[in-house]
Amino acid sequence: MISAGKTTTVLWALRSPCDLGCPHCYFGVLEQDRLEPPTQPGKLTHLPHGDLGLPVLMDFLSDIGESGIERVFLAGGEPLNWPPVGQIIAVLTAAGVQVVVCTNGRPLTRPAIRKMLYDNGVHAVSVSLDSADPVINDRQRPTRGGQTDSWARVVAGISALLDDRGDRAMKVGIYSVLTRNTLAGMPDTARFAAELGVDYFVAQPVALDPGHELFAELVLRERDIPLLEEVFGAIAAADLGMSLPGELYPAQVVSTVRHRLQDKPGCYGGHQLAFIEPDGSVWDCPSGHMIAAQAAAGTQRSIIGHTAAELFMPTTSARDCPLFSGDCVNMNPLMEFDRVLGDR
Ligand SMILES: C[S@@+](CC[C@H](N)C(=O)[O-])C[C@H]1O[C@@H](n2cnc3c(N)ncnc32)[C@H](O)[C@@H]1O
Ligand code: SF4
Repeated sequence: MISAGKTTTVLWALRSPCDLGCPHCYFGVLEQDRLEPPTQPGKLTHLPHGDLGLPVLMDFLSDIGESGIERVFLAGGEPLNWPPVGQIIAVLTAAGVQVVVCTNGRPLTRPAIRKMLYDNGVHAVSVSLDSADPVINDRQRPTRGGQTDSWARVVAGISALLDDRGDRAMKVGIYSVLTRNTLAGMPDTARFAAELGVDYFVAQPVALDPGHELFAELVLRERDIPLLEEVFGAIAAADLGMSLPGELYPAQVVSTVRHRLQDKPGCYGGHQLAFIEPDGSVWDCPSGHMIAAQAAAGTQRSIIGHTAAELFMPTTSARDCPLFSGDCVNMNPLMEFDRVLGDR
């Protein structure tokens, strides 16, 4: 059970580097950023120039058990390629914080990584796989080194993690990015996930700025809505035995395809949700719109020189947000993660 008063979910992008080069990634394209390193506050990049070292992170975590943080999603970049990640996870779970690791799945083929996750009592592992079709997946999730085994290695990693699980409570799930290229095949991807034996499945829409060079190719638009509704309906009707996002989620996704920016009464951003970047900056939520607004106002905070209990006090309040978008819908499955973990 979670102790009373712990209500904050933190999405923590722990590290910037990654061994995949997904062209739609929130972290941008490494090759482009090498030519012109981003300088604006909050802009994510696979360049590791501002990533904090372990001592600063440990100082921040020193009183985590007294903070309002209930659950941490560790992401990136690729969090499992950074050797000290085990020490971070150990401190979190020892303090009673629930830990969900979000990974591209390739590190899971390493037995030492699987052992570290189990030994430290990680509560769930969300693995990214965008299609049951290796060609479609690997076009959207290519390796940086030109290897052609992206899909195969992720599937091998998921299978190995499930094989090692025994009767441990850790949940394993698949996150799949919905683009115009993966949409039609999403029911097959969900079926494939169920056949692998995972516990939960989330199809989340790609979020890109209108100026992104892949916006027209990947981002769902009004005319995709009938197929989108059909796909969500088919996945639900198939009754695959996996936990899916709440029943309002498909309509929320559809609504943000229809209206990109909306008012959202009583949102959790900045109160029950926070986003930490690899440089330690703390934002009210990971939405690009929110980060731009906070960067302009200079209201972001930092974990440098601050502890978790100083930054994250227990709260149940909510406030209205005029920046509700597809980025925010992608946060709903995280904020409803009790559906996956249940009453522990
Ligand atoms: C940024 S990754 C970090 C963790 C890990 N590297 C991975 O790929 O799972 C977290 C999740 O965001 C998804 N993602 C990345 N860029 C996205 C975008 N522009 N829109 C929607 N989802 C995106 C990834 O597919 C992955 O499921
Ligand atoms: S694996 Fe994750 S962090 Fe790496 S490029 Fe793909 S989405 Fe981005």
